[in-house]
Amino acid sequence: MELVKIFLDTANVDAIRRFYELGIVDGVTTNPTLIAKEGKSFNEVIQEIIRVVDGPVSIEAISADYASIVNEAKKLAEISSNVVIKIPITIDGLKAVKTLSVLGIKTNATLVFSANQALLAAKAGATYVSPFIGRLDDVGHEGMEVVAETLCIFRNYSFKSEVIVSSIRHPLHVLEAAKLGAHIVTVPPTVLENMLKHPLTDVGIKRFLEDWEKVKNVEKREQ
Ligand code: E4P
Repeated sequence: MELVKIFLDTANVDAIRRFYELGIVDGVTTNPTLIAKEGKSFNEVIQEIIRVVDGPVSIEAISADYASIVNEAKKLAEISSNVVIKIPITIDGLKAVKTLSVLGIKTNATLVFSANQALLAAKAGATYVSPFIGRLDDVGHEGMEVVAETLCIFRNYSFKSEVIVSSIRHPLHVLEAAKLGAHIVTVPPTVLENMLKHPLTDVGIKRFLEDWEKVKNVEKREQ
């Protein structure tokens, strides 16, 4: 039985460093929006992330046509063996995924919004397939249904592609993904923090410390 993998969905190196040190983070996913938020050059951000993380780091190809996607992917893959090329699921993207899988370059089929798109990506040999749950929920669809259907299809045919549950907005998304047995969840740092926090834990620690002070006072009196 495989353990659920946790990726961080961010390009913020401080956040990556902070959570990576915990030893529970297996990789990172980025996208152009996340990189733009950092206000640094693309190369600087990617090099920093690669230095910190010893695991898959998804970087999005921004080219649109088949030949350009393949060329861009080859260049990105030279950065490190941990680099995974994120490719939006279009006709050209699918063709590029197939070519890159034959070349042994890891791919992450992104912007997946249906199980049929996921099926095609897996058939093309994508290493990872990323259904965007939050964005589906945002427009009134049940995002997690796409994850359930995709996992069912992958199991039916023993596809090797791993499902990265993406566009996660809150801890319940992680819970649902884990209950379905998704391979990977990619979480924004705030969501990971919220998974960890519980007000009753804080109250419990405070009460134990207060009671421990009482024990110390009794010991002092007995001396
Ligand atoms: C995943 O790889 C994407 O970077 C990410 O999950 C998109 O999430 P968003 O819908 O919050 O932008």
